[in-house]
Amino acid sequence: MTLLAATEIPRAFFWKGDHLALLDQTMLPTQQIWLPLFNLEDVSEAIRMLRVRGAPAIGVAGAYGAVLEIRLRSRSENLDQGPEWLKHLLEITEALRQTRPTAVNLFHCMDRMDRVARDIVSESGQAAFDSFAAGDRMEAEALAIHREDEEICNRMGSHGAELIADGVSILTHCNTGAVATGGLGTALGAIYTAHLSGKKIQVYADETRPLLQGGRITAWELFEAGIPVKLITDSMAASVMADGKIDLIMVGADRIAANGDTANKIGTLNLGILAKHFGIPMYIVAPTTTLDPSLASGQEIVIEERKADEVRQFQGQYSAPPEVDVFNPAFDVTPGELITGIVTELGVHRPPYDFRSVMAGKS
Ligand code: MRU
Repeated sequence: MTLLAATEIPRAFFWKGDHLALLDQTMLPTQQIWLPLFNLEDVSEAIRMLRVRGAPAIGVAGAYGAVLEIRLRSRSENLDQGPEWLKHLLEITEALRQTRPTAVNLFHCMDRMDRVARDIVSESGQAAFDSFAAGDRMEAEALAIHREDEEICNRMGSHGAELIADGVSILTHCNTGAVATGGLGTALGAIYTAHLSGKKIQVYADETRPLLQGGRITAWELFEAGIPVKLITDSMAASVMADGKIDLIMVGADRIAANGDTANKIGTLNLGILAKHFGIPMYIVAPTTTLDPSLASGQEIVIEERKADEVRQFQGQYSAPPEVDVFNPAFDVTPGELITGIVTELGVHRPPYDFRSVMAGKS
């Protein structure tokens, strides 16, 4: 078995200054296509179409998208007045917020870009406004967001890896790996970290219908890393647990309410219920940027509904009547009471969860 070097993990994107080079995740694993994204429209389309996906990754990509667009507009609209520049920046970040509603990381990143933009304008005061210098500061902020996400992944990975004993078998869902973040990943980051420390792990990866992030991306990442992985369809999860094949469930999150209720890829709730039935510990691994302490419970989380054809079709071919009615929520909410622990970069949080206090203590 190979122990991958941390430098060998795949990447979701590379910042190139005048564009974002983005790995088109819709084409994985058969093709690795790098798309150059130049503006708001390119980045918004990539987020909406899941070319870049995973809560932390869309936050970082969104921040870079804001930099690209404000620089373009600064030139084309000759934005030499601070208030006018800020109006454009706020319009850009709002457009990015509209791309996907559930993952809160994107919203936190856009809020952060807005805060910096407001600071830049208020600091410029009566002096002449320099939109080029302002663009550079926005770029520095996007780079900081990316770098911090990478560091957070490493810290989460270490905390999560402590929960993984040598020789265990882990069930995971969707893709929480390197391409879903700006670094090593969340739940898969913990698995990579445990593997790098020499632990033997068997991963079971749910295929994750309808868009197969588990089959196309998690199975690919783990296989490439030399980590033993067995791919199962989502409907096999109960049976593999009943057979005693699973010691631990580890998944990611898109938004976690103050009480620990966790929105994650559709199908995660099934695993939470099964975990309770079979007495298997279930851990969420997510950065504090995925926490939304403003929401008291998961009932307040907005769940994205996606196009009907994602369910009616299988890899571009109709596998159901083209006119049949469809319900296609992209996420579900697992109640905090079904979750054994939530791993963030701060450590392992146990129930009863109170992320309002955790975040108040952090700031
Ligand atoms: O719709 P996606 O593919 O963006 O959904 C992603 C997930 O649900 C992941 O499990 C979650 O974002 C954690 S990513 C590290």
